[in-house]
Amino acid sequence: MSERVIPLVDQRTAALAARVPATPVAPTGLLADSLHRPLRDLRISVTDRCNFRCNYCMPKEVFDKDYPYLPHSDLLSFEEITRLTAVFLRHGVRKIRLTGGEPLLRRNIEALIAQLAALRTVDGLPPEITLTTNGSLLARKARALREAGLQRVTVSLDGLDDAVFRRMNDVDFPVADVLDGIAAARAAGLHPVKVNMVVKRGTNEHEILPMARHFRGTGTVLRFIEYMDVGATNGWRMDEVLPSHEVIARLRAELPLVPLDPSAPGETAQRWGYANAQSQHDPALGEVGVISSVTQAFCGDCNRARLSTEGRLYLCLFADRGYDLRSLLRGGASDADLASALGAIWQGRSDRYSELRASLPPESGQGKRRIEMSYIGG
Ligand code: GTP
Ligand code: 5AD
Ligand code: SF4
Ligand code: SF4
Repeated sequence: MSERVIPLVDQRTAALAARVPATPVAPTGLLADSLHRPLRDLRISVTDRCNFRCNYCMPKEVFDKDYPYLPHSDLLSFEEITRLTAVFLRHGVRKIRLTGGEPLLRRNIEALIAQLAALRTVDGLPPEITLTTNGSLLARKARALREAGLQRVTVSLDGLDDAVFRRMNDVDFPVADVLDGIAAARAAGLHPVKVNMVVKRGTNEHEILPMARHFRGTGTVLRFIEYMDVGATNGWRMDEVLPSHEVIARLRAELPLVPLDPSAPGETAQRWGYANAQSQHDPALGEVGVISSVTQAFCGDCNRARLSTEGRLYLCLFADRGYDLRSLLRGGASDADLASALGAIWQGRSDRYSELRASLPPESGQGKRRIEMSYIGG
């Protein structure tokens, strides 16, 4: 494989050329990487812009008015995204997540959702389509998104206290508007709504219990995410990570929880159900999740591929380079060529950064030229 991969230089980060292999890799829906991990989940970033400046993701000092966002001509069009997605589906993808930046900033995103919803998986079913958003535009858009074919939504929300939330989004955005967005998503039937809270020790850890109390019994699934060393600009430090086992211990001190089985292979979150007086999971009270990429890596069955806004394929959230699928696409490749190129790239995949992180000296990765989360999405 290595002779087919030629590094090129790009003004943002180096890209890897995506090549059509000499021996075709026909899509069977059973593609596996070098660690036997299938391809199931495709995360598509539709913009590298966001109207928030969460310090752990787009710190203001870096993402200021001079930041070189991608020009519009670099972005994949909806038709290009849909064509590539169809190829991913033929290789076994079942779930599509639209991300950003903030995906609802991409104009007429509903039209893209409608195009994706018309595709079929290898089982002949519509793909599951979901979207990760900061919720700021959701109250306005939830219904149209649902009508276009979006099934679910995940809203990022780092606290309920208005002052804490305004400080964390760093653009003084009020929490009430995000809560309205969540309510609108529920009313539109984007079920189940999930809420992701990134926990930073010393910043919003005191919001853990209020968030849990607020969402318990509402049908909205709250997940606590360990603050990760993703990207190269957030100044990550291990002492700001609150390990998930501590989050669970704090919750259990007030709200009884029982562990739940995973709902799908390769899932990011460990699930915990709220318990009744008999210490049984009470479905009416719902569940919470913890995503422990730092203290308990889940690379072993990672089945996620990431497509950047300008059409590069990243095999890991912590990758420093992606494969330039756009050149192939715009260079006249056939669908069979695209499928072969994708197949060969996935077959060569061995990424497992979070597992390897444990054996690296603390903070050794910071300052490396890694892709930013705002560019590739969660
Ligand atoms: P659903 O539960 O089906 O909604 O999907 P999901 O768990 O993949 O959801 P989501 O995209 O909300 O992921 C939650 C968070 O987990 C992301 O925002 C990231 O912070 C983190 N995450 C997701 N995928 C990965 C991954 O592959 N590696 C690492 N290290 N973290 C991830
Ligand atoms: N660590 C953990 N999660 C992060 N996210 C963004 N940056 C980080 C980080 N450094 C999360 C956001 C959102 C999703 C897109 O990724 O909170 O839920
Ligand atoms: Fe915050 Fe999400 Fe925007 Fe990043 S992309 S700044 S996490 S709202
Ligand atoms: Fe997958 Fe990379 Fe995350 Fe591991 S660190 S779970 S390989 S994206």
